[in-house]
Amino acid sequence: MQSKEIRKKFLEFFEKNGHKVVPSSSLIPENDPSVLFTTAGMQQFKPYYIGAKDAKIDFGSLNSASVQKCVRTSDIDEVGDNTHLTFFEMLGNFSFGGYFKEEAIRLAYEFITKELKQTIDYVSVFKGEEGIPADIESEKIWQSIDPKIKIVKSGKADNFWGPTGDEGPCGPTTEIYLNGVEIWNIVFNEYYKDPKGNFEKLKTPGVDTGMGIERLAVMLQDKKNVYETDLFSPIVSLINLGEREKRIVADHMRAAAFLIADGVVPANTGQGYVLRRLIRRTVRFYPGIPFGELLYAVIEIYRDVYDLGAKRESTLEVFEKEKEKFEKTLEKGLKEFEKLQSISGETAFHLYETFGFPLELTLELAKERGIEVDKKSFDEEMRKHQERSRTSAAGQFKGGLADHDPETIKLHTSHHLLLAALKSVLGPDVKQRGSNITKERLRLDFSFGRKLSDEEKKKVEDLVNQKIKEGLPVVRKELPKKEAEALGAEMEFGAKYGDNVCVY
Ligand code: SER
Repeated sequence: MQSKEIRKKFLEFFEKNGHKVVPSSSLIPENDPSVLFTTAGMQQFKPYYIGAKDAKIDFGSLNSASVQKCVRTSDIDEVGDNTHLTFFEMLGNFSFGGYFKEEAIRLAYEFITKELKQTIDYVSVFKGEEGIPADIESEKIWQSIDPKIKIVKSGKADNFWGPTGDEGPCGPTTEIYLNGVEIWNIVFNEYYKDPKGNFEKLKTPGVDTGMGIERLAVMLQDKKNVYETDLFSPIVSLINLGEREKRIVADHMRAAAFLIADGVVPANTGQGYVLRRLIRRTVRFYPGIPFGELLYAVIEIYRDVYDLGAKRESTLEVFEKEKEKFEKTLEKGLKEFEKLQSISGETAFHLYETFGFPLELTLELAKERGIEVDKKSFDEEMRKHQERSRTSAAGQFKGGLADHDPETIKLHTSHHLLLAALKSVLGPDVKQRGSNITKERLRLDFSFGRKLSDEEKKKVEDLVNQKIKEGLPVVRKELPKKEAEALGAEMEFGAKYGDNVCVY
């Protein structure tokens, strides 16, 4: 079964079973500074699990299904084996107080055994650990569905999921294995973990499932690894390298293309650092890398699913520019590298700052050359870097204003003008869903039933510019929230406000 067919079958099955099909969200999470990337299908639904948003209002259903683009950087070192990837797509069905364990397990069983006609190898359930009780209910449900099914019991490491970042919904899982490979993770979000590490019972428990399409394709296309499936073979066939290097280049190329399409640019921290590291690694393994050809292969694979082609030229430019930058310093850096007998955290950082060597690259090069690395000081440098990345991401992606720079404040005012103009041109259905303002640009996420015409966009733009030209005074007032509401002040849907709010 081709991957296109897998996506279709999955979404149709869940739609037929009362789920609203929701498009994949961006790889860059909305208003969620706790993570750098979207790592799971549930991420865009976090507000529904905790009751900050109402799925019934937004989707007309308490259940949803999606095929979500994901990036996981925790697995980068394992890329090259048969199953681990940086970018992947996750098929998922979700419930926010609709159904729970019984139906979730039955639906998964039916999809695997009836729709896909696969034989389940075994399933796993949570055995209970660290004060969190065993999931006896799931075990019983599996037994009632198939008395002969093999059930394995594991602790938190294997059968407890979440949260993404340091807080959020989480809970015990039951997993389905085909041919010894974990294929489907079914999470029962019963708890909320707060940043201090306390687990609180969620008012309405939810279901969050995730099944990697690449792994599933291996089974359904009768292949030995993900690189042989239709999701990879057109890329891999263009790369003339050893098996492991070929896989790494294909994986990184694909992940980088998707990150660029979602607006990430190479940088020294945060999301941009991950992108930089991915591109530089492809260049190192494959010095003459034909980015254009490989990118074209990626675009073709996803032609009917994601429109990567529209940004082909600008995407290619990002790859080429980054390669150029890296090449300029690579030679010098390597020379410096050859002189070294051992590497401390400081040296690694020097290579990073001066030559743009991602820290992991230094570690890899050292390993290849048998150079000793002072692990302790290196790890400390790495930790500091991650800290910087997190802080910068938190600033950049927290909703609203990133700082109080005059430029940011200007863009904040424009943001209000833009929202008002959208409402005036399109009507009151326009609802703000998120905002993110830095001193370089403003971003406003809003929901509206359809795509805007060019004419409408122009009208909105003209209206904003006209209002800017009028030079109206900006008045800021602090008011109790109730009074602000009575005035008809705009509020961001799903956002939590304090008792007193500022009204402009
Ligand atoms: N959130 C779970 C996972 O990522 C299930 O989707 O595995």
